[in-house]
Amino acid sequence: MTTITLHPDFRVGPVDRRVFGSFVEHLGRCVYTGVYEPGHETADEHGFRRDVADLTRELGVTMLRYPGGNFVSNYTWEDAVGPVEDRKPFLDLAWRTVEPNLVGTDEFLQYCEREGIEPMMAVNLGTRGIDAAIGLLEYCNGEAGTKWADMRIANGREEPYGVKLWCLGNEMDGPWQIGHKDAHEYGKLAAATGRAMRQVDPSIELVACGSSSMMMDTFGEWERTVLSYCYDVVDHISMHAYYEEMDGDRDSFLASGTAMSTFIERVAASADAIGAQKRSDKRISISFDEWNVWYLFSRFVGETNLPVQKDAPRIIEDVYSALDAVVVGDMIVSLLSHADRVAVGCLAQLVNVIAPIMTEPDGPAWKQTTFHPFATAARLAQGEALQVKVDSATMSTKKHGDVPTVTAAATVDPETGALALFVTNRTAEEQTVTLRHPGATARIEGGSAVLADHVGPREGKEAAEAYGMVDALPVSHGDGAITLRLAPESWTAFHGTLAS
Ligand code: AHR
Repeated sequence: MTTITLHPDFRVGPVDRRVFGSFVEHLGRCVYTGVYEPGHETADEHGFRRDVADLTRELGVTMLRYPGGNFVSNYTWEDAVGPVEDRKPFLDLAWRTVEPNLVGTDEFLQYCEREGIEPMMAVNLGTRGIDAAIGLLEYCNGEAGTKWADMRIANGREEPYGVKLWCLGNEMDGPWQIGHKDAHEYGKLAAATGRAMRQVDPSIELVACGSSSMMMDTFGEWERTVLSYCYDVVDHISMHAYYEEMDGDRDSFLASGTAMSTFIERVAASADAIGAQKRSDKRISISFDEWNVWYLFSRFVGETNLPVQKDAPRIIEDVYSALDAVVVGDMIVSLLSHADRVAVGCLAQLVNVIAPIMTEPDGPAWKQTTFHPFATAARLAQGEALQVKVDSATMSTKKHGDVPTVTAAATVDPETGALALFVTNRTAEEQTVTLRHPGATARIEGGSAVLADHVGPREGKEAAEAYGMVDALPVSHGDGAITLRLAPESWTAFHGTLAS
């Protein structure tokens, strides 16, 4: 028997809405024929696809990271501002693709503004450094009267954009990164760049690169060294994690959310250890600025095996299954359970590239299976995350050891008492859960679920759209407890009320 216990007074902390962010990188067809396709029947006057923007809105994305990813580490932002006819294509070494520079900083930031989405920018600390970073920041946020701010104004944008969130490079621990550095080199450069950027605009928030995954040989030591240089300068440390089902090991894949939680807790512990050593009252939070299911090892050929291509090639266009949607839901459970620590999250990426939204050039846009849990959680998870006590059986997995069979996260809106409860059943059997709410009144009004129905990847618009959320199994209210039923291998979002 599984029990879940909740009380409105036992809280993790407010859910930072930026945790429902996503990511637009100049990679494959994320930008070109993804968000941007002039000439498409839905394109607006700026060349951005309305069908994609509408799906992005429905997805509930609050923030977009840009322009990379690996791409940023060889990017010259100055080449992609000003009159489009003067911009020259360049060979992006990260994805071995000719980048036409038709979309750059202004196009992206104005798109975000029109769509009501907060931008998160990254600076190039691979091939470039302090100079390019402070120039870009001044271009984005500076007032008239200095070189780069005046260039923005000359390019037609009077008002500063006021970009708040800035990544100091991307995955600099990865040997694949253009301009890869060791932790000392990167830590010093990130600290110096961050300090200079704060002199341009003290109101910004800065993200230092953490590890590209928990499997990196340098994991732990990287965080320790980087933060020993940057602790006082940055606000967040980044985390990236991608999970996939390998060798038919379904149980380990279903346990990805637990692996993600372990990763978060280890990074938080590493950051706190530096804070303790410095006797600092400051707490570094986490920017989980790339997370998703990605068949990286089983489907992707690897960056260096890509041929040089142009015209928005199809790169890492993973097609998702129903099981992938359940795992994405479970990863959201992990993020919300750590709301006191995770300030930013980016489902990587938004369109076409390991994405919840797919498009065809000159054709339709549609939702992948993974769209559904994200959109549902983004809509329902309001207010504060609660401490959720789950007592369930465990299951043993090859990769992650013994993990709970049921995981859960909950939020309550203190103003309205609206409750959202997200629950994953990792087993192949239906589960009955007793939801206890001692000393509080609770009601579950309904719910919807994604089911891993053992049907493989849903290729193309028709197959993908045949998949959607289904009604949650019926709920019964008893004296002081509610009985929930969870379908086999499912992620369910319940909604209701909870009050003291
Ligand atoms: O999201 C795809 C790639 O994954 C990003 O460019 C990089 O940061 C990560 O390795």
